[in-house]
Amino acid sequence: MLELVPITEGIGTEVRGVDVTGHISDRDFGRIYQAWIDTTILLIRGQHMTPAQHVAFTRRFGEVYAYTRSKFDHPEHPEILVLSNIVRDGKPIGSAYSGRVWHTDGHYLTDPPAGSMLYALKVPPVGGDTWFANMLGAYDALPQHVKERIDDLKVVISRVQSRPYNYPDRPAPTAQEIAEWPDVPQPLVRVHEESGRKAIYAGGNVPWRIEGMSEDESRPLVTFLQEFSVQPRFTYRHRWQPGDIVLWDNRSAMHQATPYDYTAHHRLMHRTTVAAPHAAVPTGRAAS
Ligand code: OGA
Ligand code: MN
Repeated sequence: MLELVPITEGIGTEVRGVDVTGHISDRDFGRIYQAWIDTTILLIRGQHMTPAQHVAFTRRFGEVYAYTRSKFDHPEHPEILVLSNIVRDGKPIGSAYSGRVWHTDGHYLTDPPAGSMLYALKVPPVGGDTWFANMLGAYDALPQHVKERIDDLKVVISRVQSRPYNYPDRPAPTAQEIAEWPDVPQPLVRVHEESGRKAIYAGGNVPWRIEGMSEDESRPLVTFLQEFSVQPRFTYRHRWQPGDIVLWDNRSAMHQATPYDYTAHHRLMHRTTVAAPHAAVPTGRAAS
């Protein structure tokens, strides 16, 4: 029987009593979907999905699409992005260092994805956990005068500016990348299309500029919001076991990967992505 259990007081729902490859009635699915919207992440443990079943289950939440590096797409199921440090025949089978700073996927896209579903196949004994933060809860907890100050602001998301924060080990963006990556203004406070609730949408780590403000003016406000959002009361650190599924609502949650001993242990995760409702589904390639 379906059971929905809060993960912590501040974030997430654990879905128990389901086999995601079996039949889930519309009524049960409706409750699961609502818990996702309301609490920003779902955890479902002990699952066994083939890639096709993973894609099919993801499809119940919306249109599935691939927006990331195609070189790490699953060879038979391009809707699946492989995250792994495993090297086969001298070639990495997946993206090894995704999401090491707090972020929301595709913040730099005009139609960021609605969500992502991560499925654990192999996990290291220590580390390789993923943090999640509930940005609805963070917004709700802000003092009223801060809400009023930020409600109508826009934050300028720049892939070029974020590169050294996300990938300190990579070279600076090339002239071509700079030309291909225009800045994207995003609402600093994002109103969820489905619930109408507000979420802080400042991202993490990069001291973004706010439209109409100088960098010096923007930095303290943006940094304050980013730090406020990841307080323990809004966050959860998931320690993966093989068979775990976590689906996050990318409109209202941030996440961050944690390191592990890449030289001693293997981590293998499959990720699917849910497109924003009504979005023109992008077909181009982009890094996470
Ligand atoms: C992602 C991501 C974090 C992780 O898949 O978008 O950031 O812990 N993953 O693998
Ligand atoms: Mn990510």
